[in-house]
Amino acid sequence: MALDHKPAPNDLRAFWMPFTSNRQFKSQPRMLVAAQDMHYTSADGRPILDGTAGLWCCNAGHGRPRITRAISEMAGTLDYAPAFQMGHPTAFELANRLVDIAPDGIDHVFYTNSGSEAVDTALKIALAYHRARGEGQRTRLIGRERGYHGVGFGGISVGGIVNNRRFFGTLLAGVDHMPHTHLPENRMTRGQPEHGAHLADELERIVTLHGAETIAAVIVEPMAGSTGVLMPPKGYLEKLREITRKHGILLIFDEVITGFGRLGSPFAAQHFGVVPDMVTCAKGLTNGVIPMGAVLTSAAIHDAFMTGPEHVIELFHGYTYSGNPIASAAGIATLDTYAEDGLLTRAASLETYWENALHGLADRPHVVDIRNMGLIGAVELAPIEGQPGKRAFDVFVKAFEAGILIRVTGDIIALSPPLIISEAQIDELIGTLGQVLSEAA
Ligand SMILES: Cc1ncc(COP(=O)(O)O)c(C=O)c1O
Repeated sequence: MALDHKPAPNDLRAFWMPFTSNRQFKSQPRMLVAAQDMHYTSADGRPILDGTAGLWCCNAGHGRPRITRAISEMAGTLDYAPAFQMGHPTAFELANRLVDIAPDGIDHVFYTNSGSEAVDTALKIALAYHRARGEGQRTRLIGRERGYHGVGFGGISVGGIVNNRRFFGTLLAGVDHMPHTHLPENRMTRGQPEHGAHLADELERIVTLHGAETIAAVIVEPMAGSTGVLMPPKGYLEKLREITRKHGILLIFDEVITGFGRLGSPFAAQHFGVVPDMVTCAKGLTNGVIPMGAVLTSAAIHDAFMTGPEHVIELFHGYTYSGNPIASAAGIATLDTYAEDGLLTRAASLETYWENALHGLADRPHVVDIRNMGLIGAVELAPIEGQPGKRAFDVFVKAFEAGILIRVTGDIIALSPPLIISEAQIDELIGTLGQVLSEAA
């Protein structure tokens, strides 16, 4: 669709939208023009209840005054400071605040601008860490089927989503994948499923195939969000930790979705009681308001780089906007907001209510599975024959018309509302979704 004239402000053609069916959207736009607390406002003036915290990121809801104020004050005080060989206090303060809420043993913060960059940064740190310790032959990276780790070349290489990989060439060499943990025998499980801890043993098989001394790191989402809310079976993450530790392989938890209270603890690592060597995060780090991501690492990883002459750069990696002052200020204000409202643990107290409401949809047409944990949930629908994804996409469009924002991946509806949601709003969200499911049948 070439532009045959200079576009007018309401011309939708120039913007090539990400992960969007552009032609469908532009023929039937779903525009949001404002947001406050639990609601968006659509362009036609309707309140839309946010069932997805934006894109899994606005954990404190929208328009939080502390965050807005911090951004505007920092923009007027220090708009930008060079990220390399210079510093500003707010980035250091935020790093300390993040370490305060991070799992024990995680002590350092490397800033990025997104989850994708956090993932690629963590993979690079893993490779460089082994090299710094004289184990430069550890170059293999292990991901998992149905894993989502953003869209950088590192992230799509370790990720396990075919459409995110197959159009983009040969990707990184030396990557293997473990099987995903989504088993039919766990259908309709409330919380963590019973079956599947043995799937972690696949890592031993990969180790046997290549030799542990060639493997740098394993990266997994502790709970896989983007591919449809796939839970870790009981004992699975513990096993991964045991096997990686035994073989000197680093374990990276990609907590871009699970970080900042989604499961009822600051990080999923604390929720499951399994501490990795690195944690990637983004999204809820600034309540989704300003792009920012981070890699949180153990002291052992950080300290392995702190050798050699002091004037030499220890890690040849970083971004123009790493620790940007405005993003850092937003991050501190976000952590303050989470603390004031008790949001990093609120999902735990709402979990049973949420679970009961969600599983109340079990008798709706075409529902084949429901799963939940913390304030996250999925309703999986049977696909229409020959048209995978169509049934859920139609539900998504109808739900928006009915005043709720949900998210779909294939035929899976994923829900992850802001952590400020009330019980009455849970009823409204699930009630409306139930109606739409019945009407769409
Ligand atoms: C687990 C995980 N990792 C990485 C990313 C990528 O983050 P971003 O879109 O900020 O690059 C996402 C985004 O949804 C994610 O869910």
